Amino acid sequence: MKIDLKSKQPRRRIFSGIQPTGNLHIGNYLGAIKNWTKLQEEDDCIYSIVDLHAMTVPSNVLEIKHSTLEVTAAVIASGIDQKKSILFNQSSVPQHSELAWIFNCISKIGWLNRMTQFKEKAGKKRDNATVGLFSYPVLMAADILLYRATHVPVGEDQKQHLELTRDIAQTFNTMFHNQIDKKFFSLPEPIILGPAKRIMSLRDGMKKMSKSDISDASRINLMDEKDVISSKVKKAKTDPYPIPDNINDLEGRHEAINLINIYASFSNKNVEDILIEFSGKGFSYLKNNLSDLIINEISPLTREMRHLMNNKDEIIKILIDGSNKAQEIADVVLKDIKKIIGLNF
Ligand code: TYM
Repeated sequence: MKIDLKSKQPRRRIFSGIQPTGNLHIGNYLGAIKNWTKLQEEDDCIYSIVDLHAMTVPSNVLEIKHSTLEVTAAVIASGIDQKKSILFNQSSVPQHSELAWIFNCISKIGWLNRMTQFKEKAGKKRDNATVGLFSYPVLMAADILLYRATHVPVGEDQKQHLELTRDIAQTFNTMFHNQIDKKFFSLPEPIILGPAKRIMSLRDGMKKMSKSDISDASRINLMDEKDVISSKVKKAKTDPYPIPDNINDLEGRHEAINLINIYASFSNKNVEDILIEFSGKGFSYLKNNLSDLIINEISPLTREMRHLMNNKDEIIKILIDGSNKAQEIADVVLKDIKKIIGLNF
């Protein structure tokens, strides 16, 4: 006999997360958060400050409370509206950890061994990395599938983790196909949009802009003052050649491509139009314009972040409210999953 389930597969549900670690930068903003705000106008959106993920690097734990509030402030300041989206911190919905354990038991070590982000973060001293860092993508799959999400807006660096999430969903569907009529999980699609899907370091166009880069000059932080932004843009690495009038001539010029992509994202123009506009000019000219664009968009956001950080109770209230809403959905889905497996009677 097929099992009767209470949770419904939504037509289109968005889930995404961001780690509460210091130094949120324009890569996080352009690659993820800015898209979140657009999606909330049309879709059923759930966004999480994934504090349990941040714990996979033990040094993050000391700062976790402050970082959770700061990253929440950044997300709200960027336009996430609690009337349109659910915004919560992951650890306040314990179903994430429970589902992660269930998924740990159907995921293969070989799948996790292939994760490039683990290899990069663990480095040469793999035996010293935490078990949490290794099984991190399984928790990420639990985050997404706990809400039966159908779409996940992320930067390109998360694509492999999304593929793993699909593998886990597929494995679950196949394993338990006798218990349910239809496939329980739809395979979530990544939403990876526009020229900002991979913003690179300002010091090295081959390296991703990252919160953990030891060089602060490699990124523009959302909390940077105007003069710091101008100086970082001015010092951003480029090459001595002028800006060409077409994309093909940018091949191999990684730092140049990166600045053009950042310009395109902040100006909402496409790369082709920007190349025509700046063709023949040097990068110093583009950099002046770029500083202004970044400052115009980021400064009001920074101001609002500071304002919210002076009203932490307001941030906490939003998180508690969001957690209650998230938990309502998570509870029904997890109960169904346990019923399907045979863990709930
Ligand atoms: P995190 O916290 O590293 O980054 C948050 C988001 O920012 C994007 N991003 C970038 N986009 C463009 N250029 C860059 N240089 C850049 N750096 C970061 C990331 O792709 C991400 O979208 N594992 C995730 C958090 C997570 C999650 C989830 C995401 C946990 N559970 C479920 C989606 C769904 C992470 O570490 O993101």
